[in-house]
Amino acid sequence: MKDLRIAVVPGDGIGVEVIREACTVLETVAAASSGKLALTPFDWSADAYLKTGVSLPKDGLKMLAENFDAVLLGALGDPRVPDNRHAVDILLGMRFGLDLYVNHRPVKLLDSRLCPLKGAEPKDVDFVVFRENTEGLYVMMGGNFKKGTLDEVATDIDLNTRKGVERIIRHAFEFARASRRKKVVMSDKSNVLIHAHDLWQRVFKEVRTEFPEVAASHMYVDNLSLQLMRDPKQFEVIVTSNMFGDIVTDIAAGLQGGLGMAASGNIHPGKISLFEPVHGSSPPIAGKNVANPIGAISTAALMLDHLGWKEEAARIDAAVASTVRAFETTVDVGGSLGTRESAAAIVKRLG
Ligand code: NAD
Ligand code: IPM
Ligand code: MN
Repeated sequence: MKDLRIAVVPGDGIGVEVIREACTVLETVAAASSGKLALTPFDWSADAYLKTGVSLPKDGLKMLAENFDAVLLGALGDPRVPDNRHAVDILLGMRFGLDLYVNHRPVKLLDSRLCPLKGAEPKDVDFVVFRENTEGLYVMMGGNFKKGTLDEVATDIDLNTRKGVERIIRHAFEFARASRRKKVVMSDKSNVLIHAHDLWQRVFKEVRTEFPEVAASHMYVDNLSLQLMRDPKQFEVIVTSNMFGDIVTDIAAGLQGGLGMAASGNIHPGKISLFEPVHGSSPPIAGKNVANPIGAISTAALMLDHLGWKEEAARIDAAVASTVRAFETTVDVGGSLGTRESAAAIVKRLG
């Protein structure tokens, strides 16, 4: 079993609270395993940025790549940094700078009562969204012309490369094959984005021929948004662009019981990767012992699974599911516990 070196970036707001609990869970499963786990904290946050002017240190990415197997991040975003400069530098800095092209977002309902859909059961909500994570509308290319005048023009470029589109689509099919899932849906807006999403169409049609055992289909993203709400059991694997993936995974989080439940990984297969809950820093509930730690704890499990600690990951998942079934959770998912107490209920089951 491989020893693991994890860089921990709690970040801002509830990120700090939920990552503290995720680390306790990680230490608990590591203590009972034959491998070693080293957690090294980094204060890359709004606080640090406001004090020092440094968001992501200059050699930060190199340091991470040379010394760590993965990064566990809480969330970034603070009202005192209105342009979110530090979040852009740190979070998008890692996604782009480490070329983490796969945003892996599993969507799994743990208990029927958490789903807002009438009659939905855990078996009906169990799919994975693969979001392209290094290009699209996130590249921050564009600009303003005549800024601040009534004639102002503003642009943001939707950048799509053959290489970028192909590698995320291929990853989705490879995941379907490896996990014996039978269906992949590619979602775009090729009826309007007739250049960029025509590229997605052509690449999808090409790559699907390499995976004849997987049923491949296409859905426009507006219809996907409806179908996720109407009949989520039709989905097994969804692959889509950066911005659409961001939006549909918040919708999908709603199917699981809300943002407090949703986990994610930013991955470049074979290289260092970054794991973070789907939710943000949630300033209004920060520091109140209210935030649901399950998104972060399930993210830690996803990270262990990715790094080969499969048994430990499965133990965490089972403990989480058990607390949910027993209503030993935070208020957002029907319990009456605080952040610390919800995590303690999980740790108790791991003991
Ligand atoms: P948010 O995810 O912080 O909150 C959205 C809603 O979900 C709020 O009602 C919040 O209270 C609730 N929520 C989120 N996580 C929860 C949890 N663990 N337990 C209980 N309830 C939870 O999104 P937002 O309000 O749009 O953004 C707040 C800040 O976070 C912004 O600065 C944004 O840019 C940033 N953000 C960062 C990340 C990230 O670092 N990965 C992701 C999303 C948003
Ligand atoms: C997410 C977040 C980020 C994104 C923000 C904070 C830049 O919403 O991880 O889903 O849009 O990717
Ligand atoms: Mn998002």
